[in-house]
Amino acid sequence: MKTIVLYYSLSGNTKAEAERIAKEENAELCEIQETKKRSRFSAFVPGCLQARQRQTPAIKPLGHPLSNFDRIIIGCPIWAGFPAPAWNAVLQLLPEGKDVSLFFCSASGKTTQSQQGTKDLIAQKGCTLSGYRDIKTGTDKTHG
Ligand SMILES: Cc1cc2nc3c(=O)[nH]c(=O)nc-3n(C[C@H](O)[C@H](O)[C@H](O)COP(=O)(O)O)c2cc1C
Repeated sequence: MKTIVLYYSLSGNTKAEAERIAKEENAELCEIQETKKRSRFSAFVPGCLQARQRQTPAIKPLGHPLSNFDRIIIGCPIWAGFPAPAWNAVLQLLPEGKDVSLFFCSASGKTTQSQQGTKDLIAQKGCTLSGYRDIKTGTDKTHG
């Protein structure tokens, strides 16, 4: 089974987790990058609002056609209770019928506000959600 780990990371926590999972799963690793560079400030304003409204920012081309993979693992930090906006851009690129597994890094390790909506969006893309994991990273320089 061919697997790819896609991740977005602002301060490195999700990156570290994605690297670990990719190694474990013998998967390709691919970073999601927004076209417009995000500062810590613009992560909070307007990033949190964009996350809560599930807005889709422009991202750079992934460089890996997702149709080539059987399983797609996506990692993303949580901003204001919701997946960081880059996650919404990846969602748009998911080919129908894929096996998708998600992990979210946050200071609290909780995604209570957004979890059901996130799962519904994957289902709406015609994909099967085979995993959903919250990873508690604790507070870092970007939070608290
Ligand atoms: C703009 C912003 C908003 C955040 N909002 C939350 C939040 O609502 N709940 C939470 O538990 N952590 C929150 N955090 C903490 C991050 O989710 C956490 O530090 C995560 O591990 C960062 O991942 P990264 O290092 O891959 O960017 C926020 C961080 C940032 C920068």
